[in-house]
Amino acid sequence: MTFCFAQAQQTAPAVTAQPAAHPAASLINGYQPVWWKEAVVYQIYPRSFQDSNGDGIGDLNGITQHLDYLQKLGVNVIWLSPHYDSPNADNGYDIRDYRKVMSEFGTMADFDRMLAAIKTRHMRLIVDLVVNHSSDEHHWFAESRSSKENPYRDYYFWRDGRPNPADPAHPLPPNNYPSYFSGSAWQYDATTQQFYLHLFAAKQPDLNWDNAKVREDVYSLMRFWLDKGVDGFRMDVIPLISKQPGLPDLTAEQMKDPSRIWANGPHRDEYLQQMNREVLSKYDAMTVGEALGITLPEQTQIVNSERHELNMIFNFDAVRLNRGANYTARPWTLPELKAIYDSHARVLGKADWDTVFLSNHDNSRLVSNWGDDSTPEFRTRSAKLLETMLLTLRGTPFLYQGDELGMTNYPFTRFDQFDDIEVKNLYKATVLTGQMPEAQFVAETQRFGRDNARTPMQWSGAPNAGFAPAAAKPWLAVNPNYTAINAAQELADPESIYHYTQRAIALHHAHLALVYGDYQDLDPTHLQVYVYTRTLTEPGKPDQRFLVVLNYGQKPVEYTLPGGIKAGKLLLANIPGTTEAGATLHLAAWEARVYSY
Ligand code: NOJ
Ligand code: CA
Repeated sequence: MTFCFAQAQQTAPAVTAQPAAHPAASLINGYQPVWWKEAVVYQIYPRSFQDSNGDGIGDLNGITQHLDYLQKLGVNVIWLSPHYDSPNADNGYDIRDYRKVMSEFGTMADFDRMLAAIKTRHMRLIVDLVVNHSSDEHHWFAESRSSKENPYRDYYFWRDGRPNPADPAHPLPPNNYPSYFSGSAWQYDATTQQFYLHLFAAKQPDLNWDNAKVREDVYSLMRFWLDKGVDGFRMDVIPLISKQPGLPDLTAEQMKDPSRIWANGPHRDEYLQQMNREVLSKYDAMTVGEALGITLPEQTQIVNSERHELNMIFNFDAVRLNRGANYTARPWTLPELKAIYDSHARVLGKADWDTVFLSNHDNSRLVSNWGDDSTPEFRTRSAKLLETMLLTLRGTPFLYQGDELGMTNYPFTRFDQFDDIEVKNLYKATVLTGQMPEAQFVAETQRFGRDNARTPMQWSGAPNAGFAPAAAKPWLAVNPNYTAINAAQELADPESIYHYTQRAIALHHAHLALVYGDYQDLDPTHLQVYVYTRTLTEPGKPDQRFLVVLNYGQKPVEYTLPGGIKAGKLLLANIPGTTEAGATLHLAAWEARVYSY
């Protein structure tokens, strides 16, 4: 099992969500306009962004150094992956002290300086909120594990084991829950001779949200960061906070996708509404939940603004389309991907809001995963095509660091090159038990493993790609292609992926139609061309109509637009010198264009 449990493909019901009852005057195409709907978000994985002091680990001062780079790119919200004190069993997703900065990343003064510098540039910062679990080194857990009578005992899930007839001295786990990071989700603890629950690594015990004191402590730490001036939170695996009463075994059917059960506990919405009432509603904060296990029809329960829970969630339908269980590939087609975006447009209504993303720190690199890194030309072109898509589809776009440079997967060839705990645990569970040959494991992990996205940012052709000083040893190896793919070279080239992404972001910011406009797929079944419109009709104004044409593949195509539509003014094109307009278009490999019409 891994963090990427196979997710069943979901079929959206053919319903149109009802518009919300908002005061009509302030709405745009029925949507309440808000800054976070209009934002372009850039995710920073701090460990891999910029090492400013030569210890080989990225840090907050390193981020501050590059804020001009981000401002010029045009993104206006930064999502910072965890920056808190942590023993780093899972690179900061295991928090030891929620009010302290990880010492490798710097100090609270560095954080304050970074935040002020972000605000000076008219950007905003959201931080990661990891509160389904803490680190086992958090003082709550240290207290909790110390005795059954400790006041913190009930901050976590402690249960007796089940009798083990074969070996009575070693009881069996309390139930059959698997961990996302392989093996049982229960760890035996000798001090009190009970097991504790950890849906992720053993060093990430799950917090018991049914305990009101846990919830109050979480709300308090949220206020601490909001009072400092952060603009909101990305919430780690947030639907998992309400556990199933009694923690019964999963049935064989439920075992195919345990996230579905874990994400739909009875108190999830009650707790999110309480969090909203007690904390979020008092600030102008943006929230995005990582919504493992939530299907599209369920999504609206969390994001519908009238329910007062979260603003938006990451739904995994698109990003996991090409994945089977663990790191296996699943064959997919372009019409399947289009059907996902189409269903989102149909099922989510005017009181809901969506996200668009195809990469992050848990997935392989955007261009290697969804585009074509087989030649420099296809890499450049397909990376630009993907940025075009992310910035013109419906929902707030989330871009991941390095994708604006077309950074690629790392050429891993050996198990000992991986750092990720998910990979290490899966190796133990598969290769070391003889279930999978090592070569197959390495090949699959090279394709889909999370370390692909975590190799250091490639800033220049200098040693260590400018991520760290030449004498330093980066915590994870720099991709050897940094001499060809790096920011310095792209900043000097007006036709680079960086500059193209900058133009695509500027286009997104310039036209509210690309934010609030309706989405229509003009040719859902075409196997290679993805062509859609975004249209904004506002009373008393001419319609704003945009046409996006993407040739998703290497084969050139002559394509006649359906419905008599003619491409009008060309606004963005990933092949320099393109001028073609009209009804029939000649699209080269991985060609992307945006027109008004
Ligand atoms: C989701 C995070 O994105 C991932 O990196 C982490 O390993 C798990 N949650 C556990 O916190
Ligand atoms: Ca450092």
